[in-house]
Amino acid sequence: MGTIIIAIVIISGVGAFLATLLVFAERVITNYGDVEVDINKGDKKFTVRGGGSLLETLTNQKIFIPSACGGRGTCGYCKVKVLEGAGTLLPTEEPYMDAQERAEGIRLSCQIKVRNKIEIEIPGDLLTIREYSCTCEKIIDYTYDMKQFNLKLVEPTSITYTPGQYIQLLAPAYEGSPEEVYRAYSISSDPANKSGIELIVRRVPDGICTTYLFDHLKEDDTVRVNGPYGKFYLRDTNAPIIFIAGGSGIAPIKCILHHMKNTTIKRKAVFFFGVRTTKDLFLVEEMKQFEKELADFTFIPVVSQPEEGSDWHGATGRVTTVAEEFLKRMPTVSDCEGYLCGSPGMIDSAVKILADLGIPEDKHYYDKFS
Ligand SMILES: Cc1cc2nc3c(=O)[nH]c(=O)nc-3n(C[C@H](O)[C@H](O)[C@H](O)COP(=O)(O)OP(=O)(O)OC[C@H]3O[C@@H](n4cnc5c(N)ncnc54)[C@H](O)[C@@H]3O)c2cc1C
Ligand code: FES
Repeated sequence: MGTIIIAIVIISGVGAFLATLLVFAERVITNYGDVEVDINKGDKKFTVRGGGSLLETLTNQKIFIPSACGGRGTCGYCKVKVLEGAGTLLPTEEPYMDAQERAEGIRLSCQIKVRNKIEIEIPGDLLTIREYSCTCEKIIDYTYDMKQFNLKLVEPTSITYTPGQYIQLLAPAYEGSPEEVYRAYSISSDPANKSGIELIVRRVPDGICTTYLFDHLKEDDTVRVNGPYGKFYLRDTNAPIIFIAGGSGIAPIKCILHHMKNTTIKRKAVFFFGVRTTKDLFLVEEMKQFEKELADFTFIPVVSQPEEGSDWHGATGRVTTVAEEFLKRMPTVSDCEGYLCGSPGMIDSAVKILADLGIPEDKHYYDKFS
């Protein structure tokens, strides 16, 4: 009996010693002290406590880098050029870098740690990205899993963006989600209204940010966003336009349609809007209104799996297949520009179809809602 007690005491003692050693080692090893961050060869310099990711270090300084996946290393948006201080490329970064980017020192800012002096280069316009404090003025239910959030800007009180761009919204910590996260949402509103923005959001089951938006956010609550970001905007040409979107991918296209109306753009445009069932359809009346107001705009809603017995008489099938059949009959299709928005799978298939129809790749513009 005595031997067993002695053994237990020894094992517990060794365990406690190892735990203390680990805590001590962690403190020593991860204590990088104060570290200098230099942006754009001295344009902006600051000193921070080392150890955080470059993305969070910059965010803490209110320098916002596009980071649609919230730093999980799955979107590839948070690229910056590192001149010094980031070590070698990590396996988590490799899938997002082509040969030229590797040669130029491009890195994913969410993956690299700020451990010693680091020098980076970022496009100057990112230094002008602002953070906005907003009030959630109104929440509109569109379908069982789609809502619109109307945000009124409080500080600053107005925003300028290019129609089609997106913002990043901060979901604060809430019960069951201990850390705050950022997620990207396209602006869907009329860009003439600079005092607020509207977002159209689909609930992702168990998604951190959409659970916050759908189950926790209430009208009159404060919301923080930063932006605007992105290169998904209407190019200034006279080319006919093909819009293809699925579900919440309608958001930036609605904003672009408002812009076309406001600025009397008369380009020919056709919009294929895909949903799964008729219960997923929304904004149909608004799109029909654009058909009346724009010079040459056609809206084609497409339902992939209409419910049995439903009175759906419109286009049926995959949105990309319906688009392909329609566009094949268009004599000047190779002169068009393609604007695509929605799930990565839908966009990959739309890109292939546009390429097969002879539309060059540099005329495909898209935002993958990854
Ligand atoms: C440029 C850009 C613009 C975007 N604009 C919009 C928009 O206007 N409206 C909108 O609703 N969304 C938009 N998104 C998607 C949005 O940023 C979030 O990814 C989405 O809302 C899920 O966030 P979450 O925190 O709720 O889910 P997470 O907690 O991030 O994810 C939970 C799980 O769901 C999976 N998942 C993540 N996103 C999706 C998805 N979209 N569909 C299915 N599964 C998913 C994840 O892999 C994970 O396993 C946009 C994304 C990008 C990159
Ligand atoms: S934030 Fe998405 S990969 Fe870095």
